[in-house]
Amino acid sequence: MGMKDFREMKRRGEKIASLTAYDYPTARLLDESGIDIILVGDSLGMVVLGFEDTTEVTLEMMLHHTAAVARGVKRALLVADMPIGTYDTPNEALATAKRLVDVGAQAVKLEGGASHVAQIEAITRAGIPFMAHIGMLPQSVREEGGYKVKGRTQTEADALIADAKAVEQAGAFSIVLEIVLPDVARRISEAIAIPTIGIGSGENCDGQILVTHDLIGLFPWFTPKFVSPEARVAEEIRKATTAFIERTRNGSHNIK
Ligand code: KIV
Repeated sequence: MGMKDFREMKRRGEKIASLTAYDYPTARLLDESGIDIILVGDSLGMVVLGFEDTTEVTLEMMLHHTAAVARGVKRALLVADMPIGTYDTPNEALATAKRLVDVGAQAVKLEGGASHVAQIEAITRAGIPFMAHIGMLPQSVREEGGYKVKGRTQTEADALIADAKAVEQAGAFSIVLEIVLPDVARRISEAIAIPTIGIGSGENCDGQILVTHDLIGLFPWFTPKFVSPEARVAEEIRKATTAFIERTRNGSHNIK
């Protein structure tokens, strides 16, 4: 799918569906199901690697998982997250983006708005498609002291709209809006021509993204409030494991 198609989808009012993947089978299943965008998110750190937040994720980890996902994707757009500490300068941002592209990413994402225009321009001028991420920034969760809703004050809402315009101007093809007040998410979506992809930001965004583990109930120890899981995969794994343990202990592993 080309970059222009996403703007066109927004223009036509067609919503963009996006999910995360970190491994080959999940990526292939999402791709075969018709998802528009697959993100190798640095949420990898929490839902796959067992860290407390995304701040432990390294570029080596992202490269390893992006390569696996790339092997499973044929038609969706594959976006990879740039982990914390890998885009502090425009040169560093470009070098990181190139390494992710080398292992199969078709686009990259970093967290930040107007503050990161120089990095975004370095990436887009090199011809690498770029997805922005504003609102709640998980890589800053420690400084922020939690995952807090953004856009509650007029100043915060104005800053988010300015961020969205700045990243659009810098060449982003879409913007993730994370936990932004729905009314502010609507105003941002109306203020720019590129699509907004919301997570916990209400229905007025041009598309939606979720962490797949949350959607399918594969990480039962924590589910964000805004997620309505569509499946209970953790329960299925527990059931299958218990059944296997019982069969093993009963000695009923007959070869058919
Ligand atoms: O890391 C991630 O999975 C993300 C999405 C939640 C947008 O950035």
